[in-house]
Amino acid sequence: MTSPVPDLFTAALAARDRAHAPYSRFKVGAAIRSESGAIYAGCNVENAAYPQGQCAESTAMGLMVASGDRRIVEIVVVGGEAGSGLLCTPCGGCRQRIREFGAPDTPIHIYDAGGYLRSFTLDQLLPFSFGPDNLGF
Ligand code: THU
Repeated sequence: MTSPVPDLFTAALAARDRAHAPYSRFKVGAAIRSESGAIYAGCNVENAAYPQGQCAESTAMGLMVASGDRRIVEIVVVGGEAGSGLLCTPCGGCRQRIREFGAPDTPIHIYDAGGYLRSFTLDQLLPFSFGPDNLGF
């Protein structure tokens, strides 16, 4: 299948190469296109105290916010080896974090290290979500 966002895939793959994943050995990269057009990429950062590990999507969102951007236009996640065919969709916590800076129709493109697999909207992955609008923001 043709990659819908090759620039984000390239950025996420490069970040994935730098993942700190000595415990799971499962490297993940994520790349966000923000409203400003800038691309923010991150990797998973694991910790010897296992629950303190951080997902690639969280790293990318932190970088986006620290850089002064707030809105996610689309996001790519790259997890798994080339040809694995397994969908590395964001974990539940990251789906909620994406909701903070995205919208129900925000595209989430899933790749393995070899290329494009499938796209979802955030609403497909997190239906009936609770977001800033529920609090009047
Ligand atoms: N992981 C991510 O970084 N993003 C995902 O979408 C799924 C899982 C990380 C967390 C952990 O470091 C490793 O993958 C195995 O769960």
